[in-house]
Amino acid sequence: MKKILITGGAGYIGSHTAVSLVEAGFEPIIIDNFSNSEKSVLAGLKNILGKEVVCYEGDCIDRDMMERIFSENDFKGVIHFAAFKAVGESTQLPLKYYSNNIDSLLILLEKMAKYGVKDLVFSSSCTVYGQPDELPVSEYTPRKEAESPYGNSKKICEDILRDYFKSGVNSRIISLRYFNPVGAHPSGEIGELPLGVPSNLVPFITQTAAGLREKLTVFGDDYDTPDGSCIRDYIHVMDLADAHVKALEFLFNQKDNFYDIFNVGTGNGNTVLEVIHTFEKVSKQKLNYSIGPRRPGDVEKVWANTEKINSYLGWKAKYSLEDSLRDSWNWQQKLRERG
Ligand SMILES: NC(=O)c1ccc[n+]([C@@H]2O[C@H](COP(=O)([O-])OP(=O)(O)OC[C@H]3O[C@@H](n4cnc5c(N)ncnc54)[C@H](O)[C@@H]3O)[C@@H](O)[C@H]2O)c1
Repeated sequence: MKKILITGGAGYIGSHTAVSLVEAGFEPIIIDNFSNSEKSVLAGLKNILGKEVVCYEGDCIDRDMMERIFSENDFKGVIHFAAFKAVGESTQLPLKYYSNNIDSLLILLEKMAKYGVKDLVFSSSCTVYGQPDELPVSEYTPRKEAESPYGNSKKICEDILRDYFKSGVNSRIISLRYFNPVGAHPSGEIGELPLGVPSNLVPFITQTAAGLREKLTVFGDDYDTPDGSCIRDYIHVMDLADAHVKALEFLFNQKDNFYDIFNVGTGNGNTVLEVIHTFEKVSKQKLNYSIGPRRPGDVEKVWANTEKINSYLGWKAKYSLEDSLRDSWNWQQKLRERG
């Protein structure tokens, strides 16, 4: 079985991708320092897969540890999820974000080059587009100046990967620009586990419905959108996981060195209020929410043009917004049962 290293594999997107990798016949090997995840994720993976996923507890910026992991395993490919991702915190602690997000990639590339591992899928983000001038936003739309150190760290990592590829080193690399990942594994065994107060909409919704938060605030209803609230492209995390498998398989089939970027979204935008009302419908819960002022730094509207990933990778989102919200709610309820 082809071993695939997944850095940050105990996190939200990484853990779901581990499931899709096993289902596609790969053997995922996780490295995670559990800075933003819990060990219970590994038990959830075991319950879904019927076997343990190998996990090294450690930090990707620990060069000696990375050396040991690469020397002990014959990796066919790598998916690099490990990063800090809280936009707000990154504006307060920029060095923490630059150091973790950039150093982890540099050390990873150093080890991949040393051990002749060519294939890499990198977690980038639609945040690199800022508020795009045209919608839907395609990969050919110029990136805007980043709104936060987090967003800038993703831009810098994309540039590092492009330069690494251009240097002629043996490499086949895809950066996936995720739109807004939501949902959970349909079993409810794994899902998003935000530590502290969630900054993303859907975990805030489910925690409010579960009584863990008193009220949800919608940040602004005076944007230039049909109901005045912001628009995002919400992609089910299992669709996103599948895109990683498709990206890896695509890379394995390339004869030459390769670097490219793909959007991963549904191609549809939904307003915050639409998400709230859809959640109320699928969960049969009434949400306590109110309209507040705009949140600084929020982009008004963004959704993906997905033609490139549809045609190159043969990937298309299968899950609807209803599916995503039902699975998120199921996960929240399972968490409550666990206590
Ligand atoms: N969730 C989103 O909304 C979103 C959107 C676009 C891009 N991304 C990117 O996707 C990737 C995964 O995001 P996620 O939502 O699963 O985040 P997450 O925080 O749930 O997962 C990241 C995992 O990496 C681990 N980690 C962080 N730094 C590490 C290090 N130095 N060494 C080892 N482990 C480390 C954390 O403990 C965590 O388990 C990140 O790179 C993120 O920036 C996420």
